[in-house]
Amino acid sequence: MALATRPRTTTRTDRRPAGTAARLWRSTIGKKTVMAVSGAIMLLYLIAHMIGNLKVFFGPDDMNGYAHWLRTLGEPVLHHEWFLWILRVVLLAAVLAHGLAAWQLSRLDIAARPVKYAHRGRRASYATRTMRWGGVILALFIVWHILDLTTGTVNPNGESGHPYENIVATFDTWYGNVIYAVAMIAVGLHVQHGFHSAAQTLGAGSRTRDRALRATGNGLALVLTVGFLSVPFGVMTGIVK
Ligand code: HEM
Repeated sequence: MALATRPRTTTRTDRRPAGTAARLWRSTIGKKTVMAVSGAIMLLYLIAHMIGNLKVFFGPDDMNGYAHWLRTLGEPVLHHEWFLWILRVVLLAAVLAHGLAAWQLSRLDIAARPVKYAHRGRRASYATRTMRWGGVILALFIVWHILDLTTGTVNPNGESGHPYENIVATFDTWYGNVIYAVAMIAVGLHVQHGFHSAAQTLGAGSRTRDRALRATGNGLALVLTVGFLSVPFGVMTGIVK
């Protein structure tokens, strides 16, 4: 795809030879690689998080004990909560890199079009638009989710160290169920498409492997969506109370 290039005035910084990382970041393939790697980090977190959430079906002691274990993980080499903070920094970096690369790639995509489409809405494909809107929904959800179950700010129970009781309180509200259901569907769609794109960027795609890659992406998306949704379902049906 040919990119529209604009003549630029040379500055003092431009004259310096760019490092490999900077050159990679400036290229389309570099940004796609950043998206693929940061996406893979978040996917691994989501799989672990979904499995961890299933502890809720084993009762408050199991769930709250698991949350406590997360805070003591790595001790005595690491101090209290250090593991959690390292994880938070890695995840925040992944989210920011993913969002920035996505935004820049969409700007490059628009700039590369020689003529604007007559109908603005038909510019991007269905999958691309799903990814963009899904990404925005997920970013907003993460902010709500942290205020709900990490800081407890918007949680009706909001008790620190008691995720079990906080989770039940969230899914005892209609809006909690709606917000999480929308977000979990967005997670599924995002993983389904993102997995295939990332695999292709990282060179795993080929005509023979395409079906297997799509099946893996679909399977992961389904397991994550059903696994996450089982928690509100458990609270709504009274299995978790
Ligand atoms: C029904 C679905 C979900 C439930 C019940 C749930 C539950 C929780 C709980 C209880 C915590 C606090 C953990 C702790 O402090 O020990 C948490 C944190 C978190 N969750 Fe979820 N989660 C769900 C879905 C998701 C999804 C889909 C994402 C990402 C898109 C996500 C991302 C996070 C993040 C980033 C944190 C913050 C970790 C931290 O800084 O402590 N969660 N979740």
